Amino acid sequence: MLRDTPSTVYLKDYLPPEFLIDQVMLWFDLDETETRVRSRLELRRNPAAQSRSPDLRLHGEQLELISLSLDGQPVAPAGYLQDDEGLTVRQVPDQFVLESEVRILPQQNTALEGLYKSGGLFCTQCEAEGFRKITWYLDRPDVMSRFTTTICADKQRYPVLLSNGNPSDTVELEDGRHRITWTDPFPKPAYLFALVAGDLRAIEDSHTTPSGREVTLRIYVEPENIDKCDHAMASLKRAMAWDEQQYGREYDLDIYMIVAVNDFNMGAMENKGLNIFNSKFVLASPATATDRDFQGIESVIAHEYFHNWTGNRITCRDWFQLSLKEGLTVFRDQEFSADMGSRGVKRIEDVRLLRAHQFAEDAGPMAHPVRPDSYMEINNFYTVTVYEKGAEVVRMQANLLGPEAFRGGTDLYFERFDGQAVTTDDFVQCMADAGQRDLGQFKRWYSQAGTPELTIQGVYDAAQQTYTLTVEQHCPATPGQPDKEPFLIPLAVGLLDDRGTDLALRLAGDSDPGPTTRMLEISEPRQQFVFEQVPVAPVPSLLRGFSAPVKVRFDYSNEQLMFLMAHDSDGFSRWDAAQTLAQRILLQLVDDPDSLVPEGFVQAFRQALQDSASDPALLAEVLTLPAESYLGDQMAEVDVEGIHRAREQLKTLLASELKTELLAVYRDNEVTGEYRPDADAIGRRSLRNLALGYLMQLEDQAIQALCIAQYRAGNNMTDVITALSLLADRDIPETAELLEGFYQQWRDDPLVLDKWFSLQAMSKRPDTLERVKGLLDHPAFSIANPNKVRSLIGAFCSGNPVRFHAADGAGYRFLSDRVLELDQLNPQVAARMVRLMTRWQRYDPARQRLMQTQLERILHTSGVSRDVYEIVSKSLE
Ligand code: ARG
Ligand code: ZN
Repeated sequence: MLRDTPSTVYLKDYLPPEFLIDQVMLWFDLDETETRVRSRLELRRNPAAQSRSPDLRLHGEQLELISLSLDGQPVAPAGYLQDDEGLTVRQVPDQFVLESEVRILPQQNTALEGLYKSGGLFCTQCEAEGFRKITWYLDRPDVMSRFTTTICADKQRYPVLLSNGNPSDTVELEDGRHRITWTDPFPKPAYLFALVAGDLRAIEDSHTTPSGREVTLRIYVEPENIDKCDHAMASLKRAMAWDEQQYGREYDLDIYMIVAVNDFNMGAMENKGLNIFNSKFVLASPATATDRDFQGIESVIAHEYFHNWTGNRITCRDWFQLSLKEGLTVFRDQEFSADMGSRGVKRIEDVRLLRAHQFAEDAGPMAHPVRPDSYMEINNFYTVTVYEKGAEVVRMQANLLGPEAFRGGTDLYFERFDGQAVTTDDFVQCMADAGQRDLGQFKRWYSQAGTPELTIQGVYDAAQQTYTLTVEQHCPATPGQPDKEPFLIPLAVGLLDDRGTDLALRLAGDSDPGPTTRMLEISEPRQQFVFEQVPVAPVPSLLRGFSAPVKVRFDYSNEQLMFLMAHDSDGFSRWDAAQTLAQRILLQLVDDPDSLVPEGFVQAFRQALQDSASDPALLAEVLTLPAESYLGDQMAEVDVEGIHRAREQLKTLLASELKTELLAVYRDNEVTGEYRPDADAIGRRSLRNLALGYLMQLEDQAIQALCIAQYRAGNNMTDVITALSLLADRDIPETAELLEGFYQQWRDDPLVLDKWFSLQAMSKRPDTLERVKGLLDHPAFSIANPNKVRSLIGAFCSGNPVRFHAADGAGYRFLSDRVLELDQLNPQVAARMVRLMTRWQRYDPARQRLMQTQLERILHTSGVSRDVYEIVSKSLE
């Protein structure tokens, strides 16, 4: 906990390590009161070091030193100095062996970083800087070493003992304990170290790689969950085959293990050969998991697997380079999911997430570049910017190079840097070399924060048969970056003729007509593109496939948007036109509840609902109105109540105008037979449940009965939880009883209860905050469990804007109380939660003051963590 103001770490201060570690041997003695960790490090001076101090400085926190020796000789007390953050060993030789023993207390580790207990299991989370809570070490990613790990524990409580690499035989010891040694042949940074001990069961399968290596695949879970691992295993096998096919990358050890734990700060962790997962991203059965859960598992399993090459074999030089592995790996998992399901829908979902969260981050006090240049607490930089915008930055390179050169670029990257810790510049250089082009300007995407805005105008010259697009780019200022240099932006455009057909695009100077979609390269503040031989005034389709993470401003008429909605050959752009139009209508309704909704809009929705040929999943996306929080982001000052009212109003209007069509869609899209999470069934369920959501706006008893019937009949969690959520929004007499029944049915399944907490937290009912407060005391709730915190507190504060931002400030007080409580236990999760209050400048003066008051209260609480301090202090600057 904090004593002084935390210091800031800068990228510009990076220096190579003074020492390297060739070998690490670790011995763990796991016990109920304490754990002993012995380590043996083979150290030598780094020939590439740029500085030379006589002493060795190692990281280490919350370690109780038991013994320390250098080359077999105990180090005298004058020979070392221990402080809160590490250990200095004085006057060390150029090459030596350092042995130490420390005592740590995993049972008391509520921060869930380092070695900790989750239920009856021992497990670890070392990224980014958790290894230093296990033993003294050079805990930085550019120190890569070979690890040998011996674990000793009580055999009955901990029959399974796991670490990275390959296992030796177990040795039975006399006192009821047993011991095993794991050897990882691949040098790795300490953040990829993992250890698990517990009473676990595993399902096993195998995969043969193209080079003929037979890999044993194991998923370890607690015994009661053994029947919920099949989807995760099938996903892993698909991911392995896909990476072989798409990137020519195969797995490199004889065994690949995944362990599911209930207490985990994030989604999952790619430790070499031993991934540790939040159980939410492993466990699934049709009765307990929704379609989203099934998809989430497939994508996170793939993400962690893909890290073996993009993260582990080639890792980050320092934590400023985090997007080197995360942006690239997210891009890879997005493409994998697109190939496994519906590509168009996947792109829409990813863009929706990016716009909702990353654009908001880019416009707020925590805005930072994809490669940040400073931080106080690195855990605060596992952000949507580093991950999702980072993925878009990789995608843009693929857009600029084309698929073949992009694959050439990744091949080059693996060849050039295997076994090394490198930078985002190194990655881009591979792309530049493979694409044979200069990407110097492109690299600004890594160094400049903020969302660029493109203002585009189109002029048709009938006499010349030309269409001229004028594109201007501008990027708003972000903290510490008042002025931005122009970006290199790939802008995919098409032109539709008056029948909605794509025109072949011929740019001035082209000898032949080109393809119907062109990737324009925007590099100047202002640029013009002249299309020739354009027979009619076209409607431009801009930013097809969301070719760059930018905002586009083009003065479309409502009619043009409806035309694009109906005709654009690009699925993403059809959806985007619908969103733009819906947003325009909603913002008008916010201003004036009596403003008229264009009849064409309702008609477009009607046509879409009646079009039996269209893909249900895509249709569900088109018919989903922009979220309240996203609408708020489009306003100069967020009108919390106005937005809620307008959105409800439009939903109700659409429901009453389109009741017949919605009921038909509901009827026609029932999915019968055994539950399957395939693209077709998921699409139909999502469309059907969307229709039910609109219909429930009508407060119609027959429809409520339908909803209750769906709840009762549901053979899958998607339908059940949708129905229950819709019921929980309303004052329907049955709701209380159904909620209680659901709890009784699922009281032993923590992941299902997470959904139960969330749907109550997101209820539109006016008394939701009181209910949420009541649920804090529910026996199934625990503030020590991150999933529970996210499901109840997170869901309320981020998923229920109209209740969280209540004018009396009760929501803000609630959040700051929870943050202060949580910060004592788990600073990482506390810092996540406090972010939900940091965009106070977007609100009216009264709400601003209420939020500032709470933020100041947190900042001035003594002992606030570095994690929370950084977020709160930056938000108040
Ligand atoms: N590398 C992990 C992943 O992306 C996430 C680790 C998060 N760690 C943290 N300290 N925030 O899969
Ligand atoms: Zn990752």
